[in-house]
Amino acid sequence: MAPRLLQPGDPVVFVDRRHRSYYDQLAPGGTTNVRGNLIAHDEALGLQDGSLVRSQRGVLFHVFAATYSQHVLNMKRHAQIVYPKDAALIVLWADLFPGARVIEGGFGSGALSIALLRAIGAEGRLTTYELHEEPAARAHKNVAALLGETPNHEVRIGDIYGGIAEREVDRIVLDVPEPWEVVPHAITSLRAGGIFAAYVPTALQVHRLSLALTYSKWFATVESYEAIVRPWHVTARSVRPEQRMIGHTGFVVVGRKAAQRLLWVPGAPIDSPASGADEVEPGGANG
Ligand SMILES: C[S@@+](CC[C@H](N)C(=O)[O-])C[C@H]1O[C@@H](n2cnc3c(N)ncnc32)[C@H](O)[C@@H]1O
Repeated sequence: MAPRLLQPGDPVVFVDRRHRSYYDQLAPGGTTNVRGNLIAHDEALGLQDGSLVRSQRGVLFHVFAATYSQHVLNMKRHAQIVYPKDAALIVLWADLFPGARVIEGGFGSGALSIALLRAIGAEGRLTTYELHEEPAARAHKNVAALLGETPNHEVRIGDIYGGIAEREVDRIVLDVPEPWEVVPHAITSLRAGGIFAAYVPTALQVHRLSLALTYSKWFATVESYEAIVRPWHVTARSVRPEQRMIGHTGFVVVGRKAAQRLLWVPGAPIDSPASGADEVEPGGANG
């Protein structure tokens, strides 16, 4: 494969001798000021990813194409993003796969959309519902900066609590304040075996959403997760956890839709009224 060459518009990081990274987007004629060291972007344009560049003062830096997390943590944000550790959890626990048809609720700054688009690949299709038009335009720029054109991504300006037009989708992934409002629409929109996943910042939301999924009797499994990532400091003389870490971001709630409405409420005692054991015959139709 031909080596990747750095191009105008690429998000990059300049890495100094102490492993510190400084983010910017390359522009012809542009410069980045790293602690008083001016780096001309024209020095970096056309170079192989990871090459050395010299600042105008003669200090050397490696220049790398920014990774997903470097980009989303440094891009312009107008809403709280899904943090990379949580996006990682969502991508695998919601079982995103190449070619998947995915509905997303809440575009925000586009961080989660980028993770979803990368996971589903060019063959997949992502439809994002977003209430507000103007921030969506800014989020588009964040997506395009890392991924370029994404013709398989459609943004619908609208309220996802009002309904989801698409049918037989593989996955629904939400980062909206009241994801339980989407549960009835998810039941109609998801295919049998499809997965519902939502990112929520508080335990109260985890509880309310989990009950909404469970008591709908369409989700055979409902699970909640929290990702705690502890970075480590490693040098020749010291190996220990970093003194600072991200303490709390949010939780991920994941439900798996059954082919037919359940004969019981998961977790309810078999003989309790909540078990609802006679509502649907095995093999019954959806609905
Ligand atoms: C926290 S932000 C999403 C951040 C995004 N996941 C990211 O990683 O950058 C929540 C977004 O949901 C949108 N939103 C809130 N309620 C909504 C609804 N009912 N339907 C569609 N979008 C909604 C807000 O306008 C906002 O852009």
